Amino acid sequence: MIKIEHLKKAYPNVTPLKDVNTVINDGDVISIIGPSGTGKSTLMRCINRLETPTSGRIWVDGVDVTDPATDLNKVRLKMGMVFQSFNLFEHLTVIENIMLAPVELLKKTRQEAYDRGMELLKTVGLANKALNYPDELSGGQKQRIAIARTLATDPDIILFDEPTSALDPTMVGEVQSVIKDLVKTGKTMMIVTHEMNFARAICNRVFYMDEGGIYEDGSPEQVFDNPQKEKTRIFIKKLKVLELNIDLSDYSFIDVMTKLSDFCDKNNIGSSLLIRLRMALEETIVQVMSRLVDVPDSPDLSVSVEYNEAGSVVRMSFEYSGPENNVTVGGDKLSVKILSAIVYDTVFSYDKDATLPNRLEFWVR
Ligand SMILES: Nc1ncnc2c1ncn2[C@@H]1O[C@H](COP(=O)(O)OP(=O)(O)OP(=O)(O)O)[C@@H](O)[C@H]1O
Ligand SMILES: [Mg+2]
Repeated sequence: MIKIEHLKKAYPNVTPLKDVNTVINDGDVISIIGPSGTGKSTLMRCINRLETPTSGRIWVDGVDVTDPATDLNKVRLKMGMVFQSFNLFEHLTVIENIMLAPVELLKKTRQEAYDRGMELLKTVGLANKALNYPDELSGGQKQRIAIARTLATDPDIILFDEPTSALDPTMVGEVQSVIKDLVKTGKTMMIVTHEMNFARAICNRVFYMDEGGIYEDGSPEQVFDNPQKEKTRIFIKKLKVLELNIDLSDYSFIDVMTKLSDFCDKNNIGSSLLIRLRMALEETIVQVMSRLVDVPDSPDLSVSVEYNEAGSVVRMSFEYSGPENNVTVGGDKLSVKILSAIVYDTVFSYDKDATLPNRLEFWVR
């Protein structure tokens, strides 16, 4: 059990944690979400004492880790941490990375550490990489090794700080499935992630962090579907809905597509749906541009993308300038063909008095 009372962490210029209070029970799997800079990483780093709290107390299984007399090495052996950036030792092979802590800190024999290390490599599906060096591995593989290394000291608690956010989208799944398997072992876990479907699949509790503390604490159903407090609501809506206001006479196509990819990452939308969304957005932009009437001082195209998890479908709605132009039926033949192959339930209307008179909505599956 982890108990936190009046935890405060102040840096010279900012105080991310003002007053954190909570009890984390054995076997809890907690997703931590919240805007950048709200102290999610700081909270984890205080719990495993990579940071020294300014004030307040934290007990881990009854041991006060804020007490200067506490042996922090012992505490950290009970608590593994997995970082966004893997933190593997580049000059050591994979198996040596995993054997290091058990041999140096737990005083295991090299043989014991090796045997256990090979077992762990099997569980993360990488036994064949034991003798490779980290730079010979993909990002997803490195992160699976980092997880195996964390497990090598047999911790009761594992802290993950955005374990998949530095990965190429194609590798997110393999790391998530290793974490999912870990949940079955009943360990206590805290994981900072914005991937809602993933969080929902593994966690029993969600902390939304804001205003210097745990602003809302609830089940995934509550926090993701029915948040109780204003700031949580705004944050969750932003995760679920992507709004783009595009000035077509001066915009970056790559930037727009990157935002779409980031949105898909957060919502755990797979690559095949992402490809269809990209095509729908790209063809719509091209068609709108072909008959563009520039609207000074406003966007020429507003896009809203909303994911509906229940049906794994995405609703895209557009408002744009120009004469009446339903891009799903008129205009460039190839674009229309592409769009008709990937979108359905199209609704179009034209309101000649609106700043952006064309309104189009469709679904992509
Ligand atoms: N060692 C440090 N020295 C000074 N300021 C720090 C230090 N570490 C973090 N901060 C500041 O504390 C605040 C909280 O940082 P933290 O990394 O915990 O946020 P976060 O919620 O994890 O954000 P993100 O989602 O971007 O990872 C930020 O304003 C950050 O700049
Ligand atoms: Mg962080």
